[in-house]
Order: sequence, then structure tokens, then C-alpha cells
Amino acid sequence: MKLFIDTANVDHIREIASWGVLSGVTTNPSLVAREGRDFMAVLREILAIVDGPISAEVVSTQADDMVTEARQYYELSHNIVIKLPATAEGLKACSRLTGQGVKTNLTLIFNPNQALLCARAGATFVSPFVGRLDDISTDGIQLVRDIAEIFTYHGITTEIIAASIRTPGQVVAAAKAGAHIATLPPAVFHQMLKHPLTDAGIERFLKDWESVRKQG
Ligand code: E4P
Repeated sequence: MKLFIDTANVDHIREIASWGVLSGVTTNPSLVAREGRDFMAVLREILAIVDGPISAEVVSTQADDMVTEARQYYELSHNIVIKLPATAEGLKACSRLTGQGVKTNLTLIFNPNQALLCARAGATFVSPFVGRLDDISTDGIQLVRDIAEIFTYHGITTEIIAASIRTPGQVVAAAKAGAHIATLPPAVFHQMLKHPLTDAGIERFLKDWESVRKQG
């Protein structure tokens, strides 16, 4: 399973990219609003840091306007992936953009049928929202598992991005459920790495090595 970062904060993207673990970036209008910066400028900076798919989400609700909005992002770089809502208008925009060779990420997916429709409209990626389903006491990982089973069974090549991930446990579960990618908030990358036995182990090794140094 590949790892994307889910943020529009360039400093956080730079930090995690420096670990060498990042395959792409996803953003959404809420994440962009949180930064209070010009989105085109943010996208240019992200493009300079990460060589991989970078999702930029449209805010139009009609297919014609979505396609127009998409073009301005896509013209920045062919690494830009257009994020579209899983609606009828989003499907129309998806099939048109796919016909023009533009990659798409169909977002706000909460059931397997939405994912199937998006895949049939030519989506490059579908994004089931694990955390938001868990928030309403529905099993978000089961949705990932169901989509993975359907796509595998029918030879569908659309990649599944496990989105709305809030915990390291959800990352493991998404990987086991067959997600091709998980997109993670920066904090989750740090939580994944953290283990008290790793910290204690380093401390003991350094202490023992200090005694070796003292012995000459
Ligand atoms: C996906 O691409 C979305 O940007 C994101 O994962 C949504 O996460 P949230 O439910 O924590 O807002």
C-alpha cells in the first residue's frame, strides 16, 4: 500500500517527503481554507516537493464548470489529479476528463455502488472515507474491503485510496483490506513511527556505547 499525505500545509509535506515515504498528496477545500493561502501558489510549491499524483478538488457543482475548473489545475502539471465529488455531475465530469487523458480522484465515497459507478466513469482513483463512516458507527474499513473485493473480482484497475484516516490502526486495517493507497494527515505519519520500545532501545544503546567509549 502506497502512502499519500492529506494536507495543504507545505511545511508538513516537506517534512514527510524528506523521510522518502511519500507517493502523493491529497487536498480538499477545507484543508486549503485552513492554510489561508492562494491555492495555485500552494499547488506550485507542492509540485516542487513531490513527484507523484497531487489531488486538487473542484468546488463547482455542475459538470461543465467542473471541467473548466479542472483545466486550470491540470495545466499546472500532469501530476495534478482532479478531485471530483461522487455525484451525477461528478461522474459526467469524470468521464469527460478521462477522455481528455486527465487523471481523476472521485471523493466522498460512502458505499460500494458509488465506487463502482466512479470506476465505470473512468476514475483513476476512488476515495472511500473511513473515518467519517466510523464517526457514525458504521464500519469504514468494511467499505474499503467491499470495494477491493469488487474491483479485484471484475478486473477494475481504478485504485482505492483509503481516505479520512485518523489513527495508525486504521492504516494497518486499510492495508489488510486491500487499499492500494492510504492518504494520511501529517500527525498519523508521526504516530505510525512512534514506539516506546524504540525510544528506550536507542537510549540504552547510546548509554552502553558511552561506557565503551569511556573504556578507551
Ligand atoms: C480525502 O482525500 C480527504 O481529503 C480527507 O481524507 C478527509 O478527511 P476527514 O474526514 O478527516 O476530513
